[in-house]
Amino acid sequence: MCQHHRKPKRDPCSAANNNEITVEHTAIKWTVSFQLKMIIGQATLTCRLLTKTDKLTLDVRDLSIRSVSINGRDCDFRIAPNVYTFFGSKMTVYLPPDLQKEATILTVIVQYGTSPDATALQWMKKEQTADKKAPYLFSQCQAIHARSIVPCMDTPSVKSTYEAEVTVPAGMTCLMSAIGQGSKGDDESTTFFYKQPVAIPSYLIAIVVGCLEKRDISDRCAVWAEPSVVEKAHWEFAETEDILASAEEIAGKYIWGRYDMVCLPPSFPFGGMENPCLTFLTPTLIAGDRSLVSVIAHEIAHSWSGNLVTNSSWEHFWLNEGFTMFIERKICGRLVNEDYRQFMAFNGWTNSLMPAVYEQFTPTHQFTKLIQDHTNVDPDVAFSCVPYEKGSALLFYLEQKLGGAEIFEEYLRDYLKTFAHQAIDSYQWKEHLYRYFAEKKDVLDTVNFDSWFYGVGMPPVTPNYGQAMAEACEVVLKEWLSADESNISEITVDAYSSMQPLQQIELLSQLWQHDPPLEHYKLEALNNLYKLNESQNSELLLNWLRLCIKSKWEPCIPKALEFVASQGRLKFCRPIYRDLAAWPVANKKAREVYLRGRGQMHPITAEMIAKELHIRHSTHTVCF
Ligand code: BES
Ligand code: ZN
Repeated sequence: MCQHHRKPKRDPCSAANNNEITVEHTAIKWTVSFQLKMIIGQATLTCRLLTKTDKLTLDVRDLSIRSVSINGRDCDFRIAPNVYTFFGSKMTVYLPPDLQKEATILTVIVQYGTSPDATALQWMKKEQTADKKAPYLFSQCQAIHARSIVPCMDTPSVKSTYEAEVTVPAGMTCLMSAIGQGSKGDDESTTFFYKQPVAIPSYLIAIVVGCLEKRDISDRCAVWAEPSVVEKAHWEFAETEDILASAEEIAGKYIWGRYDMVCLPPSFPFGGMENPCLTFLTPTLIAGDRSLVSVIAHEIAHSWSGNLVTNSSWEHFWLNEGFTMFIERKICGRLVNEDYRQFMAFNGWTNSLMPAVYEQFTPTHQFTKLIQDHTNVDPDVAFSCVPYEKGSALLFYLEQKLGGAEIFEEYLRDYLKTFAHQAIDSYQWKEHLYRYFAEKKDVLDTVNFDSWFYGVGMPPVTPNYGQAMAEACEVVLKEWLSADESNISEITVDAYSSMQPLQQIELLSQLWQHDPPLEHYKLEALNNLYKLNESQNSELLLNWLRLCIKSKWEPCIPKALEFVASQGRLKFCRPIYRDLAAWPVANKKAREVYLRGRGQMHPITAEMIAKELHIRHSTHTVCF
């Protein structure tokens, strides 16, 4: 069977009839009410019929629809909930008979309001913010939460330009994933205007409303944050322009105009989110030493892989994230050196991919596949670093097979140019790869693509990773493993101090992966020598706490609980909660901390952590 000539499959996570109609432009008018925890307004969808049809189907989730009109005429619609609540509902709009012909342009206006429980939104009281002066709102639409704030074709295979007019209480700032067109207002409210002239998938629509200040980094980059955070954020992310410039050398011209960032409250569930023109960042990146800025390189890389060349469904998510990891590491390789890139890739294999395959899942689990089947699957549940690291490893492996970094970068640029402004699947990717490297067909034929695509567990081959920076970790690792109570005091801090933060993280992760778990006196010595409990580096803290919990070292429990209560990044909270839940001494305390904090948590985090703790959550998987 010739896999890559398959007819494109429809997106199983969307009810849109995008095979019949497409949305070309979306005009949003919103009023944000913090009192009601609602966004009230309308969306005007400019649609084009690709074929003759009598209906438009959209994705919605918990929206109250007031009316629908097409080309000025009120029309009938119907909302049919899916049995899986994560899916939301299919909204069918019936087209008037004279507007059912191919090539017809429809102006569909939907008047509606969001639910206070919209899964894309976190509404925060002013007490929950850093400065406690004003409430705060932010969105997170990826993967399929856009439907909870706007009726849309919520599949990444449909791209629409957008504009927005958003009214917020006076004194507050509204930011969106678009280019600002100014604002106007009075004593009561301010209306902000935005335009996104590049067609984007629905999951990239984004909004933040809060008391926000801006600091410029360059003439196209700035950072926004609450006033008490903005200086620290500005210092931490000062290298953004350099990162962007080096990304352009690798991937081509940056087409989005601005690259701004907003540093969100600690409950933001991700490290970063590549919303166009306005990357969202977790404040846990503020380590005080710029050691975590690779996340910015990652989000910048999405300006090409993801935002320009987009996966056509979440089953091919690796096209977004695998490519982005690969480009992120290319950028860091340029800014530091090639040894560093090799080390980052090695670190991704050992510290992310292996634990995902062997610990988070099992080596036979469906979610360890590069291409996944998401029929009746919640993409939030399928989410893991597998598509990131298996995808990146595949590209790393292909780079080595096909003649090295330089040749592969040329290919990368051609790939991005070929598919810019499109949404594609893995078969289109493979077809282009074969076309581009037509002269190396014999080499490509030695790659077991089926095993990479559909195989469970670890990939069929391990790429070669340069070990220059891994060696220092190995030396210190051996020191700790071979020490005993009589000579442990002879270990000095020097070797550790001279390591880069990523090497320190790798060391802790290797100690964590070691069996049997480390003895308590070694943990105590590690903490005394390296001051791990006091680390400002959240990634280091994560690895340190997991190391302690694996050894069932009780003094770490308060620190671990404080860590998961003080921020909501899923990458940190899920494993720590999972570890604590599996440890009888800590299980009850972990549940208490979760239940106490749940009311104030981000809806996605609340849902995901409930699963880790086996607690029933308000939104069930299946609705009857
Ligand atoms: N786009 C992702 C975040 C995401 C993925 C949100 C899927 C919702 C669904 C973002 O670019 C990302 O990958 N963030 C990572 C950081 C990165 C350096 C690996 C994160 O949040 O940890
Ligand atoms: Zn990403």
